[in-house]
Amino acid sequence: MMYASAIAVLCAVGGVLALALLIADRFLCRYGPCEIRVNNEEPFVVEGGGKLLDALYDRRIFIPSACGGQGTCGFCKVGVLSGGGPTLPTELPFLNAAELAANTRLACQVKVKQNLVLRVKEEFLHVKEYVATVKSARLVTADTREIVLALADGAAIDFRPGQYVQVFVPGQKETVFRAYSLASPPSRRSEIELLVRLIPGGLGSTYLHGVAAGDQVRFTGPYGEFMLDEDTGCELVCVGGGCGMAPMRSLVRHVAEKTPGKPCRLFFGARTAPDAMYLEEFRKLAGENPSIQVVYALSEAENAAGWQGETGFIHESVDRHLGLEGRRQVFLCGPPKMIEATMRVLQTKGIPKEDAFYDEF
Ligand SMILES: Cc1cc2nc3c(=O)[nH]c(=O)nc-3n(C[C@H](O)[C@H](O)[C@H](O)COP(=O)(O)OP(=O)(O)OC[C@H]3O[C@@H](n4cnc5c(N)ncnc54)[C@H](O)[C@@H]3O)c2cc1C
Ligand code: FES
Repeated sequence: MMYASAIAVLCAVGGVLALALLIADRFLCRYGPCEIRVNNEEPFVVEGGGKLLDALYDRRIFIPSACGGQGTCGFCKVGVLSGGGPTLPTELPFLNAAELAANTRLACQVKVKQNLVLRVKEEFLHVKEYVATVKSARLVTADTREIVLALADGAAIDFRPGQYVQVFVPGQKETVFRAYSLASPPSRRSEIELLVRLIPGGLGSTYLHGVAAGDQVRFTGPYGEFMLDEDTGCELVCVGGGCGMAPMRSLVRHVAEKTPGKPCRLFFGARTAPDAMYLEEFRKLAGENPSIQVVYALSEAENAAGWQGETGFIHESVDRHLGLEGRRQVFLCGPPKMIEATMRVLQTKGIPKEDAFYDEF
């Protein structure tokens, strides 16, 4: 009993001390001007004390940060060659041994306290900020909205299918942004499409479900590492569920436009028939292009009278349709459970992990 009380007291004291340190760091510490040098370029000066992610953002260097700087996505990796201090426990779950050895850090967790020398991936330096006007917005299922954004001032965006943008959510105390996959094909450079599922109480999705034609939206991009193998000898297999449709739409439409002979299969899992978004559009595309195959499956098909697609979970359809032969590149996007189950199926089909890419959301 005494032992337990001692531990409780120690924990409480530790907690109070940690809180005091945090408050002192936030309100009392003055770090003054600090220089940040990126990739051996001329250094720039920022007022110390803020997050490295924000300092880079102010300098218009847009590091991917899908969780908005909360330390939960692990996307904001940069090399901090000097001045970053020790790696924090909050960063460790996202860094492997090679990254730790290379001084990789999460930019949202590193505080600017002294001069910093950074190594930033070249492609991050090409990310830009865009202002766009909502051209149209419509529900494609009960909770998912398709939003078409026309870029302002004759701007055009270059991206690869499978990439995403980060949309700014206005009206918040801090800068808030959320990641949304590009659903349009890269050939449409002056307007983009997003598909946004409403998360009740969610900042980003509520904002995007509230915008109307004519409203302005700000975003940065493109982000994402997926690199489509354009070789027509390599089959593209897309597996999506829910809002995971967004990058699939971009990929399949891109293949249909640019490499129509490339084998391409779209597997899409929905709960009920009204959730089976864009079914008619993809059926038409497959009808016009014999190398495209489309498989939709409903996991709750009890009340779907007249449903002509498959039933069950989408990984089961993948299992039924995918053979063992040939080169395949797989892109998965959807809920974590769908991705886990499909990855297990892909293993049995002889598809190596390096050829399977996924975005969970
Ligand atoms: C690379 C990438 C691409 C993405 N592309 C898309 C896309 O194309 N379309 C799309 O709709 N979303 C996409 N997302 C998810 C999107 O970035 C947001 O996370 C999502 O819209 C929720 O943000 P929010 O601000 O509305 O909710 P938040 O304010 O972040 O969260 C509010 C509450 O909801 C919970 N919550 C958050 N997400 C979910 C969820 N998925 N299910 C249940 N509860 C949740 C949170 O834990 C929190 O309690 C993508 C994410 C990533 C990383
Ligand atoms: S921005 Fe998500 S972990 Fe840093």
